Amino acid sequence: TTVEWEAASYDMGGHDTYMHKEIFEQADAVDRVLRGRIDDRFSTVHLGGLNLDAREARQIRRVKILGCGTSYHAGMIGAQMIEELARIPADAEPASEFRYRNAVVDPDTLYIAVSQSGETYDVLAAVQELKRKGARVLGVVNVVGSAIAREADGGMYVHAGPEVCVVSTKCFTNTTVAFALLALHLGRTRDLSVRDGKRIIEGLRKLPAQISEILDQEEEIKKLAAEYAEAHSMLFIGRVRGYPVAREASLKLKEVSYIHAEAYPASELKHGPLALIEPALPTVAIVPNDDLLEKNRAALEEIKARSGRILAVAHQHQEKADQTIVVPKNEDELDPILMGIPLQLLAYHTALALGRDIDKPRNLAKSVTVE
Ligand code: AGP
Repeated sequence: TTVEWEAASYDMGGHDTYMHKEIFEQADAVDRVLRGRIDDRFSTVHLGGLNLDAREARQIRRVKILGCGTSYHAGMIGAQMIEELARIPADAEPASEFRYRNAVVDPDTLYIAVSQSGETYDVLAAVQELKRKGARVLGVVNVVGSAIAREADGGMYVHAGPEVCVVSTKCFTNTTVAFALLALHLGRTRDLSVRDGKRIIEGLRKLPAQISEILDQEEEIKKLAAEYAEAHSMLFIGRVRGYPVAREASLKLKEVSYIHAEAYPASELKHGPLALIEPALPTVAIVPNDDLLEKNRAALEEIKARSGRILAVAHQHQEKADQTIVVPKNEDELDPILMGIPLQLLAYHTALALGRDIDKPRNLAKSVTVE
């Protein structure tokens, strides 16, 4: 319950900041979101609170995910997972934009509201507007019993536990895992094969240990952060699955360190941002070992040819990068869950090096309950 969470939240558990504590809680948090939901017999997952039977699940023609900030980024990853695994057209949009553009509300679309706090006003207002128009809205929410959880027709809790730091870390990760579960569930209700279901379940089970492996690299990441703390601006790039990861990493860095950061799809580089590349503007590139590896490598080459400095987050050492943080490989569809985690640590240590107020960045509040 909320009351228990508040009591628990005072305990820093030996960490200097909540952000650090919460980053290091991620293996356990992911374990929690998976617990009791996997059904090996049918290679699917059970999500009791969805209030969506198999027939209804098969009738969904589109999925629209709404959230703000980090929750929006988790929703972007979720939309890609739903398209890939369930083959339902899906996209994510900032809830605030959605509610002000008089969107066409379609009865065959499943709307999903994403929120850590469950109290973000823009998301809540979007949910209320959708419900007023007769839409079906699910919530993917962390805080149990929160306004969005109560307002939604059904949904799933992400079970990240209390998140105190204004900057969201573990809730982001757990929300992406929750979306993987939802995508698998919808997929297996439709055309995802038993074999693929099994493959994704095996991947999900590997996540907690792989997260611990990433967090073991803290010392090396801390050294990198000392270098990057001198930058005035940073560029984050990724392609398809890597793009929302780049966006979230860029948001993390700017929120907590106040270093200006921009995220771009790697494919858009030559349409403008390439003009920014020079030695003083470092690029962080998300380079998964998937079918776009060669394309991503070509982007690194273009940056290198213009004397840009590159930090790659990849599944293997990248020759064109000045440094590579190597993360463990999972199934292609699940890679985005892991690839941003070292960049949470990079943002954290950069902010620490700069003496920032890590748990309470200037001008920000944990939940934005006003317009
Ligand atoms: C996260 O680091 C941010 N502080 C912020 O973008 C946040 O994700 C956003 O305000 C949405 O909050 P919610 O998930 O509680 O709805």
